[in-house]
Amino acid sequence: MSTATIRNVLRGDGDRFVYVVSALAALNGLLFGFDTGIISGAFLFIQDSFVMSPLVEGIIVSGAMAGAAAGAAVGGQLADRLGRRRLILIAAIVFFVGSFTMAVAPTVPVLVAGRLIDGVAIGFASIVGPLYISEIAPPHIRGGLTSLNQLMVTTGILLSYFVNYAFADAGAWRWMLGAGMVPAVVLAIGILKMPESPRWLFEHGRNDEARAVLKRTRSSGVEQELDEIEETVETQSETGVRDLLAPWLRPALVVGLGLAVFQQITGINAVIYYAPTILESTGLGSVASILATVGIGTINVVMTVVAIMLVDRVGRRRLLLVGVGGMVATLAVLGTVFYLPGLGGGLGIIATISLMLFVSFFAIGLGPVFWLLISEIYPLSVRGSAMGVVTVANWGANLLVSLTFPVLTDGVGTSATFWLFGLCSLVGLLFVYRYVPETKGRTLEAIEDDLRQNISLAD
Ligand code: BGC
Repeated sequence: MSTATIRNVLRGDGDRFVYVVSALAALNGLLFGFDTGIISGAFLFIQDSFVMSPLVEGIIVSGAMAGAAAGAAVGGQLADRLGRRRLILIAAIVFFVGSFTMAVAPTVPVLVAGRLIDGVAIGFASIVGPLYISEIAPPHIRGGLTSLNQLMVTTGILLSYFVNYAFADAGAWRWMLGAGMVPAVVLAIGILKMPESPRWLFEHGRNDEARAVLKRTRSSGVEQELDEIEETVETQSETGVRDLLAPWLRPALVVGLGLAVFQQITGINAVIYYAPTILESTGLGSVASILATVGIGTINVVMTVVAIMLVDRVGRRRLLLVGVGGMVATLAVLGTVFYLPGLGGGLGIIATISLMLFVSFFAIGLGPVFWLLISEIYPLSVRGSAMGVVTVANWGANLLVSLTFPVLTDGVGTSATFWLFGLCSLVGLLFVYRYVPETKGRTLEAIEDDLRQNISLAD
Protein backbone atom coordinates (compact mmCIF):
# COMPACT_ATOMS: atom_id res chain seq x y z
CA MET A 1 0.00 0.00 0.00
CA SER A 2 1.47 3.40 -0.97
CA THR A 3 1.79 6.15 1.61
CA ALA A 4 -0.83 8.17 -0.28
CA THR A 5 -3.26 5.26 -0.01
CA ILE A 6 -2.51 4.83 3.67
CA ARG A 7 -3.14 8.56 4.13
CA ASN A 8 -6.43 8.22 2.26
CA VAL A 9 -7.46 5.27 4.35
CA LEU A 10 -6.66 7.07 7.59
CA ARG A 11 -8.34 10.22 6.39
CA GLY A 12 -11.35 8.17 5.54
CA ASP A 13 -11.36 8.45 1.75
CA GLY A 14 -12.60 5.63 -0.43
CA ASP A 15 -13.94 2.14 0.21
CA ARG A 16 -10.99 1.08 2.31
CA PHE A 17 -12.09 3.22 5.21
CA VAL A 18 -14.86 0.72 5.88
CA TYR A 19 -12.24 -2.03 6.28
CA VAL A 20 -10.34 0.04 8.80
CA VAL A 21 -13.34 0.83 10.99
CA SER A 22 -14.58 -2.76 10.74
CA ALA A 23 -11.19 -4.07 11.83
CA LEU A 24 -11.21 -1.65 14.76
CA ALA A 25 -14.73 -2.69 15.75
CA ALA A 26 -13.63 -6.33 15.50
CA LEU A 27 -11.36 -5.67 18.50
CA ASN A 28 -14.57 -6.33 20.43
CA GLY A 29 -14.23 -9.90 19.20
CA LEU A 30 -10.57 -10.02 20.22
CA LEU A 31 -11.48 -9.07 23.78
CA PHE A 32 -14.38 -11.54 23.80
CA GLY A 33 -12.07 -14.38 22.71
CA PHE A 34 -9.10 -13.39 24.87
CA ASP A 35 -11.09 -12.94 28.04
CA THR A 36 -12.95 -16.24 27.63
CA GLY A 37 -9.75 -18.13 26.80
CA ILE A 38 -7.34 -16.74 29.38
CA ILE A 39 -9.01 -18.18 32.47
CA SER A 40 -8.14 -21.81 31.71
CA GLY A 41 -4.44 -21.07 32.19
CA ALA A 42 -4.75 -18.43 34.88
CA PHE A 43 -6.99 -20.59 37.01
CA LEU A 44 -4.28 -23.21 37.58
CA PHE A 45 -2.24 -20.59 39.44
CA ILE A 46 -5.06 -18.71 41.13
CA GLN A 47 -5.72 -21.93 43.01
CA ASP A 48 -2.25 -21.65 44.54
CA SER A 49 -2.82 -18.07 45.74
CA PHE A 50 -6.21 -18.37 47.43
CA VAL A 51 -8.16 -20.96 49.35
CA MET A 52 -11.54 -21.30 47.65
CA SER A 53 -14.62 -23.46 47.93
CA PRO A 54 -15.62 -25.43 44.79
CA LEU A 55 -18.56 -23.05 44.37
CA VAL A 56 -16.29 -20.00 44.28
CA GLU A 57 -13.96 -21.84 41.89
CA GLY A 58 -16.92 -22.49 39.63
CA ILE A 59 -17.94 -18.85 39.75
CA ILE A 60 -14.45 -17.67 38.83
CA VAL A 61 -14.29 -19.94 35.79
CA SER A 62 -17.91 -19.64 34.61
CA GLY A 63 -18.60 -16.18 36.06
CA ALA A 64 -17.65 -14.56 32.79
CA MET A 65 -20.42 -16.43 30.99
CA ALA A 66 -23.00 -15.52 33.60
CA GLY A 67 -21.77 -11.91 33.43
CA ALA A 68 -21.89 -12.07 29.65
CA ALA A 69 -25.50 -13.24 29.72
CA ALA A 70 -26.32 -10.27 31.98
CA GLY A 71 -24.32 -7.91 29.74
CA ALA A 72 -26.12 -9.21 26.66
CA ALA A 73 -29.48 -8.81 28.40
CA VAL A 74 -29.00 -5.06 28.79
CA GLY A 75 -26.45 -4.49 26.01
CA GLY A 76 -28.93 -4.89 23.18
CA GLN A 77 -31.26 -2.23 24.48
CA LEU A 78 -28.33 0.04 25.31
CA ALA A 79 -27.14 -0.31 21.71
CA ASP A 80 -30.56 0.76 20.46
CA ARG A 81 -30.84 3.65 22.91
CA LEU A 82 -27.33 5.06 23.27
CA GLY A 83 -26.00 4.09 19.88
CA ARG A 84 -23.58 1.41 18.73
CA ARG A 85 -20.50 3.56 19.11
CA ARG A 86 -21.17 4.60 22.68
CA LEU A 87 -21.76 1.01 23.67
CA ILE A 88 -18.40 0.06 22.18
CA LEU A 89 -16.76 2.73 24.29
CA ILE A 90 -18.61 1.52 27.39
CA ALA A 91 -17.55 -2.07 26.61
CA ALA A 92 -13.90 -0.98 26.32
CA ILE A 93 -14.05 0.84 29.67
CA VAL A 94 -15.78 -2.06 31.42
CA PHE A 95 -13.21 -4.50 29.95
CA PHE A 96 -10.43 -2.32 31.33
CA VAL A 97 -12.00 -2.05 34.77
CA GLY A 98 -12.71 -5.81 34.91
CA SER A 99 -9.19 -6.82 33.84
CA PHE A 100 -7.58 -4.28 36.18
CA THR A 101 -9.70 -5.44 39.12
CA MET A 102 -8.75 -9.07 38.53
CA ALA A 103 -5.06 -8.24 38.09
CA VAL A 104 -4.77 -6.44 41.43
CA ALA A 105 -7.42 -8.38 43.37
CA PRO A 106 -6.23 -8.70 46.98
CA THR A 107 -9.05 -11.05 48.00
CA VAL A 108 -11.30 -13.67 46.46
CA PRO A 109 -14.47 -11.50 46.52
CA VAL A 110 -12.65 -8.77 44.58
CA LEU A 111 -11.43 -11.34 42.07
CA VAL A 112 -14.97 -12.67 41.63
CA ALA A 113 -16.25 -9.11 41.18
CA GLY A 114 -13.58 -8.46 38.53
CA ARG A 115 -14.51 -11.63 36.67
CA LEU A 116 -18.22 -10.73 36.66
CA ILE A 117 -17.47 -7.19 35.47
CA ASP A 118 -15.27 -8.65 32.74
CA GLY A 119 -18.14 -10.95 31.80
CA VAL A 120 -20.54 -8.03 31.41
CA ALA A 121 -18.08 -6.42 28.99
CA ILE A 122 -17.84 -9.70 27.05
CA GLY A 123 -21.64 -9.67 26.79
CA PHE A 124 -21.68 -6.08 25.46
CA ALA A 125 -18.88 -6.80 23.00
CA SER A 126 -20.47 -9.97 21.69
CA ILE A 127 -23.49 -7.99 20.53
CA VAL A 128 -22.09 -4.68 19.47
CA GLY A 129 -19.12 -5.91 17.40
CA PRO A 130 -21.14 -7.77 14.74
CA LEU A 131 -24.03 -5.29 15.01
CA TYR A 132 -21.88 -2.25 14.27
CA ILE A 133 -19.97 -3.86 11.42
CA SER A 134 -23.06 -5.25 9.71
CA GLU A 135 -24.66 -1.81 9.73
CA ILE A 136 -21.69 0.04 8.34
CA ALA A 137 -20.70 -2.53 5.69
CA PRO A 138 -21.84 -2.40 2.05
CA PRO A 139 -24.07 -5.44 1.28
CA HIS A 140 -21.73 -7.23 -1.15
CA ILE A 141 -18.96 -7.62 1.46
CA ARG A 142 -21.08 -7.52 4.63
CA GLY A 143 -20.66 -11.25 5.37
CA GLY A 144 -16.89 -11.17 5.25
CA LEU A 145 -16.56 -7.89 7.13
CA THR A 146 -18.95 -8.88 9.90
CA SER A 147 -17.20 -12.22 10.26
CA LEU A 148 -13.97 -10.31 10.97
CA ASN A 149 -15.42 -10.12 14.46
CA GLN A 150 -15.46 -13.93 14.74
CA LEU A 151 -11.94 -14.01 13.27
CA MET A 152 -10.88 -11.80 16.14
CA VAL A 153 -12.75 -14.01 18.64
CA THR A 154 -10.70 -16.98 17.47
CA THR A 155 -7.51 -14.89 17.36
CA GLY A 156 -8.22 -13.74 20.92
CA ILE A 157 -8.60 -17.34 22.09
CA LEU A 158 -5.31 -18.30 20.41
CA LEU A 159 -3.57 -15.25 21.84
CA SER A 160 -4.78 -16.19 25.31
CA TYR A 161 -3.21 -19.66 24.90
CA PHE A 162 0.12 -17.98 24.08
CA VAL A 163 -0.11 -15.47 26.93
CA ASN A 164 -0.94 -18.32 29.31
CA TYR A 165 2.06 -20.19 28.02
CA ALA A 166 4.35 -17.13 28.31
CA PHE A 167 3.46 -16.45 31.94
CA ALA A 168 3.02 -20.09 33.01
CA ASP A 169 6.59 -20.63 34.20
CA ALA A 170 6.36 -17.67 36.54
CA GLY A 171 2.82 -18.63 37.56
CA ALA A 172 1.96 -14.98 36.91
CA TRP A 173 -1.82 -15.20 36.76
CA ARG A 174 -2.20 -11.48 37.52
CA TRP A 175 -0.30 -10.63 34.34
CA MET A 176 -2.36 -13.12 32.36
CA LEU A 177 -5.64 -11.54 33.44
CA GLY A 178 -4.28 -7.98 33.36
CA ALA A 179 -3.11 -8.42 29.75
CA GLY A 180 -6.73 -7.87 28.70
CA MET A 181 -6.26 -4.16 29.52
CA VAL A 182 -4.08 -3.70 26.41
CA PRO A 183 -6.69 -4.46 23.72
CA ALA A 184 -9.26 -2.56 25.81
CA VAL A 185 -7.14 0.59 25.55
CA VAL A 186 -6.58 0.05 21.81
CA LEU A 187 -10.33 -0.30 21.32
CA ALA A 188 -11.04 2.86 23.31
CA ILE A 189 -8.56 4.79 21.15
CA GLY A 190 -9.92 3.15 17.99
CA ILE A 191 -13.36 4.56 18.78
CA LEU A 192 -12.02 8.00 17.89
CA LYS A 193 -11.71 6.84 14.25
CA MET A 194 -15.06 5.10 14.11
CA PRO A 195 -18.17 6.93 12.93
CA GLU A 196 -21.60 6.02 14.36
CA SER A 197 -23.62 3.44 12.42
CA PRO A 198 -25.45 5.22 9.58
CA ARG A 199 -28.56 3.13 10.20
CA TRP A 200 -28.72 3.99 13.88
CA LEU A 201 -28.24 7.68 13.02
CA PHE A 202 -31.09 7.62 10.53
CA GLU A 203 -33.35 5.80 12.96
CA HIS A 204 -32.69 8.66 15.41
CA GLY A 205 -33.52 11.39 12.93
CA ARG A 206 -29.90 12.38 12.31
CA ASN A 207 -30.24 12.03 8.55
CA ASP A 208 -27.45 14.38 7.50
CA GLU A 209 -24.93 12.63 9.70
CA ALA A 210 -26.13 9.28 8.32
CA ARG A 211 -25.56 10.54 4.77
CA ALA A 212 -22.10 11.80 5.68
CA VAL A 213 -21.12 8.41 7.13
CA LEU A 214 -22.43 6.54 4.08
CA LYS A 215 -20.47 8.90 1.82
CA ARG A 216 -17.30 8.07 3.72
CA THR A 217 -17.91 4.33 3.58
CA ARG A 218 -19.31 3.83 0.05
CA SER A 219 -17.88 4.53 -3.37
CA SER A 220 -21.37 4.67 -4.92
CA GLY A 221 -25.08 4.08 -4.29
CA VAL A 222 -25.34 6.34 -1.24
CA GLU A 223 -28.68 7.97 -2.14
CA GLN A 224 -30.29 4.67 -3.06
CA GLU A 225 -29.21 3.10 0.23
CA LEU A 226 -30.48 6.13 2.13
CA ASP A 227 -33.86 5.83 0.39
CA GLU A 228 -34.09 2.20 1.41
CA ILE A 229 -33.21 3.00 5.02
CA GLU A 230 -35.74 5.82 5.02
CA GLU A 231 -38.48 3.56 3.72
CA THR A 232 -37.84 0.98 6.44
CA VAL A 233 -37.76 3.59 9.16
CA GLU A 234 -41.06 5.01 7.91
CA THR A 235 -42.86 1.67 7.94
CA GLN A 236 -41.80 0.98 11.51
CA SER A 237 -44.40 1.03 14.22
CA GLU A 238 -43.85 3.03 17.39
CA THR A 239 -43.92 0.05 19.70
CA GLY A 240 -40.19 -0.72 19.60
CA VAL A 241 -39.23 -3.58 21.87
CA ARG A 242 -42.77 -4.93 21.99
CA ASP A 243 -42.37 -5.51 18.25
CA LEU A 244 -40.17 -8.44 19.18
CA LEU A 245 -43.27 -10.47 19.94
CA ALA A 246 -45.09 -9.50 16.75
CA PRO A 247 -46.16 -12.57 14.73
CA TRP A 248 -44.28 -11.49 11.60
CA LEU A 249 -41.05 -11.43 13.60
CA ARG A 250 -41.46 -14.87 15.09
CA PRO A 251 -39.67 -16.77 12.30
CA ALA A 252 -36.60 -14.54 12.70
CA LEU A 253 -36.67 -15.02 16.45
CA VAL A 254 -36.90 -18.80 16.06
CA VAL A 255 -33.93 -18.80 13.66
CA GLY A 256 -31.81 -16.67 16.00
CA LEU A 257 -32.66 -18.57 19.17
CA GLY A 258 -32.25 -21.94 17.46
CA LEU A 259 -28.82 -21.07 16.06
CA ALA A 260 -27.77 -19.53 19.40
CA VAL A 261 -28.51 -22.74 21.25
CA PHE A 262 -27.20 -25.13 18.56
CA GLN A 263 -23.95 -23.14 18.38
CA GLN A 264 -23.32 -24.17 21.97
CA ILE A 265 -25.00 -27.53 22.62
CA THR A 266 -23.05 -29.09 19.79
CA GLY A 267 -20.03 -28.93 22.07
CA ILE A 268 -17.54 -26.37 20.71
CA ASN A 269 -16.62 -24.98 24.10
CA ALA A 270 -16.17 -28.42 25.62
CA VAL A 271 -13.26 -28.56 23.17
CA ILE A 272 -12.13 -24.91 23.41
CA TYR A 273 -12.14 -24.82 27.23
CA TYR A 274 -11.18 -28.43 27.98
CA ALA A 275 -8.95 -29.39 25.03
CA PRO A 276 -5.83 -30.23 27.06
CA THR A 277 -7.80 -32.55 29.37
CA ILE A 278 -9.50 -34.31 26.46
CA LEU A 279 -6.21 -34.67 24.62
CA GLU A 280 -4.39 -36.06 27.65
CA SER A 281 -7.05 -38.72 27.95
CA THR A 282 -6.17 -39.90 24.43
CA GLY A 283 -2.70 -40.78 25.65
CA LEU A 284 -0.83 -37.58 24.72
CA GLY A 285 1.65 -36.25 27.29
CA SER A 286 0.92 -32.88 28.94
CA VAL A 287 3.35 -30.84 26.82
CA ALA A 288 2.09 -32.51 23.65
CA SER A 289 -1.50 -31.81 24.76
CA ILE A 290 -0.79 -28.14 25.22
CA LEU A 291 0.91 -28.00 21.83
CA ALA A 292 -2.01 -29.79 20.20
CA THR A 293 -4.33 -27.30 21.91
CA VAL A 294 -2.39 -24.46 20.26
CA GLY A 295 -2.83 -26.42 17.02
CA ILE A 296 -6.60 -26.50 17.57
CA GLY A 297 -6.64 -22.75 18.27
CA THR A 298 -4.66 -22.11 15.09
CA ILE A 299 -6.97 -24.25 12.97
CA ASN A 300 -9.93 -22.34 14.41
CA VAL A 301 -8.37 -19.07 13.18
CA VAL A 302 -7.34 -20.41 9.77
CA MET A 303 -10.73 -21.95 8.99
CA THR A 304 -12.47 -18.75 10.03
CA VAL A 305 -10.39 -16.97 7.36
CA VAL A 306 -11.63 -19.55 4.86
CA ALA A 307 -15.22 -18.85 5.95
CA ILE A 308 -14.67 -15.11 5.50
CA MET A 309 -13.45 -15.68 1.97
CA LEU A 310 -16.44 -17.85 1.11
CA VAL A 311 -19.38 -16.35 2.96
CA ASP A 312 -20.29 -13.64 0.44
CA ARG A 313 -19.76 -16.01 -2.49
CA VAL A 314 -21.32 -19.33 -1.52
CA GLY A 315 -23.72 -17.84 1.00
CA ARG A 316 -24.60 -18.39 4.66
CA ARG A 317 -26.82 -21.44 4.29
CA ARG A 318 -24.36 -23.57 2.39
CA LEU A 319 -21.56 -22.85 4.83
CA LEU A 320 -23.84 -23.76 7.72
CA LEU A 321 -25.01 -26.99 6.09
CA VAL A 322 -21.47 -28.14 5.28
CA GLY A 323 -20.16 -26.99 8.67
CA VAL A 324 -22.84 -28.62 10.80
CA GLY A 325 -22.86 -31.73 8.60
CA GLY A 326 -19.12 -32.09 9.19
CA MET A 327 -19.62 -31.67 12.93
CA VAL A 328 -22.13 -34.55 12.95
CA ALA A 329 -19.61 -36.80 11.18
CA THR A 330 -16.59 -35.89 13.32
CA LEU A 331 -18.56 -36.20 16.56
CA ALA A 332 -19.74 -39.66 15.50
CA VAL A 333 -16.11 -40.65 14.96
CA LEU A 334 -15.05 -39.14 18.30
CA GLY A 335 -17.82 -40.98 20.14
CA THR A 336 -16.72 -44.25 18.52
CA VAL A 337 -13.00 -43.75 19.15
CA PHE A 338 -13.58 -43.04 22.83
CA TYR A 339 -15.89 -46.08 23.01
CA LEU A 340 -13.28 -48.52 21.72
CA PRO A 341 -10.80 -50.02 24.18
CA GLY A 342 -7.13 -48.96 24.22
CA LEU A 343 -7.22 -45.28 23.29
CA GLY A 344 -3.45 -44.86 22.99
CA GLY A 345 -1.51 -45.20 19.70
CA GLY A 346 -3.44 -45.13 16.44
CA LEU A 347 -6.83 -44.43 18.01
CA GLY A 348 -5.38 -41.48 19.94
CA ILE A 349 -4.14 -39.99 16.69
CA ILE A 350 -7.55 -40.47 15.05
CA ALA A 351 -9.15 -38.78 18.08
CA THR A 352 -6.79 -35.80 17.86
CA ILE A 353 -7.35 -35.40 14.12
CA SER A 354 -11.12 -35.70 14.58
CA LEU A 355 -11.06 -32.99 17.24
CA MET A 356 -9.20 -30.71 14.83
CA LEU A 357 -11.65 -31.47 12.03
CA PHE A 358 -14.57 -30.86 14.37
CA VAL A 359 -13.22 -27.40 15.19
CA SER A 360 -12.62 -26.73 11.47
CA PHE A 361 -16.23 -27.50 10.63
CA PHE A 362 -17.44 -25.26 13.45
CA ALA A 363 -15.16 -22.49 12.22
CA ILE A 364 -16.51 -22.48 8.67
CA GLY A 365 -20.14 -22.72 9.76
CA LEU A 366 -21.78 -22.14 13.11
CA GLY A 367 -18.90 -20.03 14.49
CA PRO A 368 -19.04 -17.02 12.17
CA VAL A 369 -22.41 -17.54 10.50
CA PHE A 370 -24.45 -17.48 13.71
CA TRP A 371 -23.13 -14.03 14.69
CA LEU A 372 -23.47 -12.80 11.13
CA LEU A 373 -27.07 -13.91 10.62
CA ILE A 374 -28.32 -12.48 13.89
CA SER A 375 -26.94 -9.11 12.87
CA GLU A 376 -28.81 -9.32 9.54
CA ILE A 377 -32.24 -10.80 10.10
CA TYR A 378 -33.80 -8.35 12.58
CA PRO A 379 -35.53 -5.11 11.68
CA LEU A 380 -33.71 -1.91 12.46
CA SER A 381 -36.12 -0.73 15.17
CA VAL A 382 -35.41 -3.75 17.37
CA ARG A 383 -32.12 -5.01 16.00
CA GLY A 384 -30.10 -4.41 19.16
CA SER A 385 -32.79 -5.73 21.48
CA ALA A 386 -33.40 -8.82 19.36
CA MET A 387 -29.68 -9.56 19.24
CA GLY A 388 -29.67 -9.10 23.01
CA VAL A 389 -32.32 -11.76 23.56
CA VAL A 390 -30.63 -14.20 21.21
CA THR A 391 -27.18 -13.54 22.67
CA VAL A 392 -28.44 -14.19 26.21
CA ALA A 393 -29.63 -17.59 24.98
CA ASN A 394 -26.18 -18.20 23.48
CA TRP A 395 -24.36 -17.40 26.73
CA GLY A 396 -26.91 -19.36 28.78
CA ALA A 397 -26.34 -22.45 26.63
CA ASN A 398 -22.58 -21.87 26.81
CA LEU A 399 -22.76 -21.80 30.61
CA LEU A 400 -24.83 -24.98 30.64
CA VAL A 401 -22.38 -26.90 28.47
CA SER A 402 -19.21 -25.72 30.19
CA LEU A 403 -20.62 -26.44 33.65
CA THR A 404 -21.99 -29.86 32.74
CA PHE A 405 -19.23 -31.17 30.49
CA PRO A 406 -17.01 -32.44 33.36
CA VAL A 407 -20.06 -33.89 35.12
CA LEU A 408 -21.26 -35.57 31.91
CA THR A 409 -17.91 -37.16 31.04
CA ASP A 410 -17.67 -38.36 34.64
CA GLY A 411 -21.20 -39.73 34.67
CA VAL A 412 -21.94 -41.20 31.23
CA GLY A 413 -18.38 -41.16 29.84
CA THR A 414 -16.58 -39.20 27.11
CA SER A 415 -17.89 -41.39 24.32
CA ALA A 416 -21.56 -40.92 25.22
CA THR A 417 -20.96 -37.19 25.70
CA PHE A 418 -19.60 -36.86 22.16
CA TRP A 419 -22.51 -38.90 20.81
CA LEU A 420 -24.88 -36.60 22.63
CA PHE A 421 -23.22 -33.57 21.01
CA GLY A 422 -23.44 -35.45 17.70
CA LEU A 423 -27.16 -35.99 18.15
CA CYS A 424 -27.63 -32.29 18.92
CA SER A 425 -25.67 -31.47 15.74
CA LEU A 426 -27.90 -33.74 13.70
CA VAL A 427 -31.01 -31.95 14.97
CA GLY A 428 -29.18 -28.67 14.32
CA LEU A 429 -28.53 -29.72 10.73
CA LEU A 430 -32.23 -30.38 10.14
CA PHE A 431 -33.02 -27.04 11.79
CA VAL A 432 -30.66 -25.16 9.48
CA TYR A 433 -32.03 -26.96 6.44
CA ARG A 434 -35.62 -26.18 7.36
CA TYR A 435 -35.48 -22.67 8.83
CA VAL A 436 -32.34 -20.68 8.10
CA PRO A 437 -32.67 -18.00 5.38
CA GLU A 438 -30.09 -16.94 2.81
CA THR A 439 -29.15 -13.29 3.23
CA LYS A 440 -26.14 -13.10 0.91
CA GLY A 441 -25.85 -9.91 -1.14
CA ARG A 442 -29.11 -8.33 0.05
CA THR A 443 -29.39 -5.01 1.82
CA LEU A 444 -30.55 -5.19 5.43
CA GLU A 445 -33.65 -3.31 4.30
CA ALA A 446 -34.50 -5.88 1.60
CA ILE A 447 -34.15 -8.65 4.19
CA GLU A 448 -36.52 -6.77 6.49
CA ASP A 449 -38.93 -6.20 3.64
CA ASP A 450 -39.11 -9.93 2.87
CA LEU A 451 -39.77 -10.64 6.51
CA ARG A 452 -42.64 -8.14 6.61
CA GLN A 453 -44.20 -9.63 3.52
CA ASN A 454 -43.86 -13.03 5.08
CA ILE A 455 -41.76 -14.41 2.28
CA SER A 456 -39.64 -17.28 3.48
CA LEU A 457 -36.07 -16.10 3.03
CA ALA A 458 -34.97 -19.69 2.52
CA ASP A 459 -36.68 -19.90 -0.88
C1 BGC B 1 -18.72 -18.81 20.11
C2 BGC B 1 -17.91 -19.03 21.35
C3 BGC B 1 -16.73 -19.94 21.01
C4 BGC B 1 -15.96 -19.38 19.84
C5 BGC B 1 -14.90 -20.37 19.40
C6 BGC B 1 -17.87 -18.21 19.04
O1 BGC B 1 -18.61 -17.99 17.88
O2 BGC B 1 -19.80 -17.95 20.39
O3 BGC B 1 -18.71 -19.60 22.34
O4 BGC B 1 -15.88 -20.06 22.12
O5 BGC B 1 -16.80 -19.10 18.76
O6 BGC B 1 -14.23 -19.94 18.26
